[in-house]
Amino acid sequence: MRIARRAERIEPFYVMEVAKAASQLAREVAGTDRPMIFLNIGEPDFTAPPLVQEAAARAVRDGVTQYTQATGLDSLRERISQWYADRFGVQVPARRIVVTAGASAALQLACLALIEAGDEMLMPDPSYPCNRHFVSAAEGTAVLVPTTAAERYQLSADKVREHWNAKTRGVLLASPSNPTGTSIHPQELRRIHEFVQSRGGITLLDEIYLGLSHDAAFGQSGLAIDDQVISVNSFSKYFNMTGWRLGWVVVPDALVPVMERLAQNLFICPSTVAQHAALACFEPESIAEYERRRAEFKARRDFFIPALNAMGLNVPVMPDGAFYAWADCTAAAEKLGTPGSWDFAFEVMRLAHVAVTPGRDFGTVETSRFVRFSTANSMAQLQESAARLKALLA
Ligand SMILES: Cc1ncc(COP(=O)(O)O)c(C=O)c1O
Repeated sequence: MRIARRAERIEPFYVMEVAKAASQLAREVAGTDRPMIFLNIGEPDFTAPPLVQEAAARAVRDGVTQYTQATGLDSLRERISQWYADRFGVQVPARRIVVTAGASAALQLACLALIEAGDEMLMPDPSYPCNRHFVSAAEGTAVLVPTTAAERYQLSADKVREHWNAKTRGVLLASPSNPTGTSIHPQELRRIHEFVQSRGGITLLDEIYLGLSHDAAFGQSGLAIDDQVISVNSFSKYFNMTGWRLGWVVVPDALVPVMERLAQNLFICPSTVAQHAALACFEPESIAEYERRRAEFKARRDFFIPALNAMGLNVPVMPDGAFYAWADCTAAAEKLGTPGSWDFAFEVMRLAHVAVTPGRDFGTVETSRFVRFSTANSMAQLQESAARLKALLA
């Protein structure tokens, strides 16, 4: 069968190979004194809080399950708008909010709406692999720009200027980032956006981890800069609803009808049950629970990153958000006699029964030296993992 070139261009998600091997090993070591610990998974270990579950059950019971409008329930767009005001002090009118099937659908819609065949989008190396693939599915080219620890693994205005050429359409940034958990400083983001605007380009900002920010200096939405910034967000991470498939994107007024037309045709609407459930996310009781969980994520970070550093798995930049640790495993891999982070990850899995993600999917530059740990696991599991890794690398 002849497969379309756009599909052939999408690289495999190597992380899944690690996940498959981890699940296989988990079955083998279940019931032993060292069951598998999964630190490779990029999703919260929490589920939707009670009010959200009840709202979903109520929607199903009452038969409120028909299609909604393509841009989502107006009541939900209003609640999201209010959340921006309450949480970030930014005025975002509900009419500019398009509710989608997760950040993934939001990114696809934005790329399909704005990228022409051959357009280039600048993004940092390392970054979330699917974001490159959304660009290439829209027939554009993702240009990975190498970043350093000193740059918090983010692009700067200078780097964007340096790499901008006649084909460049814009930047796709994630702040905080997956896999590093580091953010762009708001002033730098402003400089980047001003440069991009001066070239008639687009600033596409993935703020899916913004709710899980641990540092007030970084935890501000790029929407405060300008209403031309396009910000993608989601109920997956802060709101702990990964499998519910619900997110949103805030777009400039001129883009709303375009996104609506695309969303009508490609998706009809996001899940109605998930939308009704999500309304309950903004109840004070739910927000209090989310804030308690955010504090828990921070406590995990504060324990686990120093523990990694102490055993020679150096995390060059303390993450200011999300739940990841991007650790240099060069010295540790040498100790185990493994040539790079891919083999290191498999060896750690085999010997310590701790699953981690090798850097390979996230870029090209330093990724053979880095692994990503997810701290979205209980403190007890993180402590046990740290003890096993320390013993392995002693
Ligand atoms: C940076 C980033 N953007 C987007 C997504 C997709 O999230 P969603 O579940 O909202 O589609 C993820 C998921 O891990 C992510 O890490």
